[in-house]
Amino acid sequence: MSRPKTAPYRQFFAALATLLFVVTSAHAQTRPNVRILATGGTIAGTGASSTTTVGYTAATVGVQQLIAAVPELAKVANVKGEQVFQIASESMTNEHWLTLGKRVNALLAQPDVDGIVITHGTDTLEETAYFLDLVVKSRKPVVLVGAMRPSTALSADGPLNLYNAVLVAGNADAAGKGVLVSLNDQIHSARDVTKTNTSTPDSFKTPELGLIGYIQGGKAFFYRASTRKHTFDTEFDIANLNTLPQVDIVYGYANMNTVALDAFVAAGAKGIIHAGVGDGSLAARVKPALIAARKKGAIIVRASRVGQGILARNGEANDDELDFVAADTLSPQKARILLMLALTKTTNTAEIQRMFYTY
Ligand code: DGL
Repeated sequence: MSRPKTAPYRQFFAALATLLFVVTSAHAQTRPNVRILATGGTIAGTGASSTTTVGYTAATVGVQQLIAAVPELAKVANVKGEQVFQIASESMTNEHWLTLGKRVNALLAQPDVDGIVITHGTDTLEETAYFLDLVVKSRKPVVLVGAMRPSTALSADGPLNLYNAVLVAGNADAAGKGVLVSLNDQIHSARDVTKTNTSTPDSFKTPELGLIGYIQGGKAFFYRASTRKHTFDTEFDIANLNTLPQVDIVYGYANMNTVALDAFVAAGAKGIIHAGVGDGSLAARVKPALIAARKKGAIIVRASRVGQGILARNGEANDDELDFVAADTLSPQKARILLMLALTKTTNTAEIQRMFYTY
């Protein structure tokens, strides 16, 4: 029995459908594969009304909803979302960092992942970014993104920030530049960026060392890169770590006392970051307590509360004689991260000082 003849128009539409599938698949293969790891924050926040830009709830919108709110993402990358955790970032812990860092390394080792975007609260975004800058074992782009306004606000900055971050994470020029931070059409290096305003969309800046690129018209443009080691060049490895050594920060100010310092040391801190006034100056009544802490085995790093500039070794204190470490240009909060990781490898202060001049 002869086979029924398929009407010619059906053959035409079948051929057209096949052609469309082939073209679409080919185009999908040209788009980068970007994973979006969501952790919470304002970018996932909601407010009572469209004019609520403070006093909203952070970490309420899930990653699939964040992606669905920006359908344009599908035109620039093949995105897949993963909710790693859902917190306001002021509650970030070392354990969150270890979980996130291990997940990032596992994904970047996959050939079908070209880059990663991490959505994050802005309060500790710079710290998570620097932690990852020191532990990610890949040249592939990792871009942290947040928002200063909740998703429900007029002119919410989250959607375009997310779109731009995916653009950067899928851009080959972003590879090998370390972990990046992208908000407000700007691209910053994780090592040097900081949150400079409590609420405005232009909050993230690299005040003196400078941003490294811009996103404009759906394209990423790079102009510089950090000279310090990071990611693929790192000597730190978290694969077998479940905790990080306790390192605390004492803040310097006029009339400072040693109550906090003494409490941190009594609680067993392995390291103390002294966020001193000026170039890391030590108050007369605080210096003896720091020396005592060092004698008990705590590593002391002199940093500055000032925000910009080099913390000079042997400047305001004789670090050689005191066996202290100078933080170079790292903020106190980032010096804490580097010291924690340094202490997973050594307690030798000369080695730790090398690390502060390397990363
Ligand atoms: N609770 C703050 C945080 O999650 C909100 C700030 C923000 O994400 O912009 O970091």
